Amino acid sequence: MRIGILGSGGGSNMQAILDAVEDGSLDAEIVLVLSDIPDAFILERAKKAGIPTDVIDCRGFKSKFPPEAQIETIDALKAAKVELVCLAGFMRLIRQPLLEAFPDRILNIHPSLLPAYPGFEAWRQAVDDGASESGCTVHLVDSGVDTGPILIQAKVPVLPDDTPDTLHARIQKEEHRIYPEAIRQVMAN
Ligand code: GRF
Repeated sequence: MRIGILGSGGGSNMQAILDAVEDGSLDAEIVLVLSDIPDAFILERAKKAGIPTDVIDCRGFKSKFPPEAQIETIDALKAAKVELVCLAGFMRLIRQPLLEAFPDRILNIHPSLLPAYPGFEAWRQAVDDGASESGCTVHLVDSGVDTGPILIQAKVPVLPDDTPDTLHARIQKEEHRIYPEAIRQVMAN
């Protein structure tokens, strides 16, 4: 399975997928890593591992993913013969035409037990809400915000003295375990 990854941040999920590929537990290859943030650490990690990278030019839009940029993204993914697109901390909503270019082949990891706490900083939402439990979800991406079919979830407790950061760190450990697992699941189907 040829995987393309889109991310905007630190890339720890990309690293977890790469580690699973490298230790032989995931029979796949990361062939391209794209970011809308030119200095995102995910690009550094990918370069260090010898994975081709590129920057998605979002034409100065802060959060929109303009159609021209999506078309360039599709072209780059197709040129690299990507079969599965994994969003790993990618901070823009995926819409047409990208969705229809990879039907049921775009995954996302979200830091909550969806459908609870969709959207931005789900770990902070859980702490602010006084939740006793949260977690993470890998799901197929559709045109909604964190609404696509759920593939796998993992729970973590929210402890009384948790801050958004301590909860996020606990959730991320589980993210790194379930993202490769979700990819295995997609490959088996
Ligand atoms: C993760 O918590 C993921 O669930 C969310 O953004 C964060 C990305 O982290 N969508 P990283 O860049 O993979 O370290």
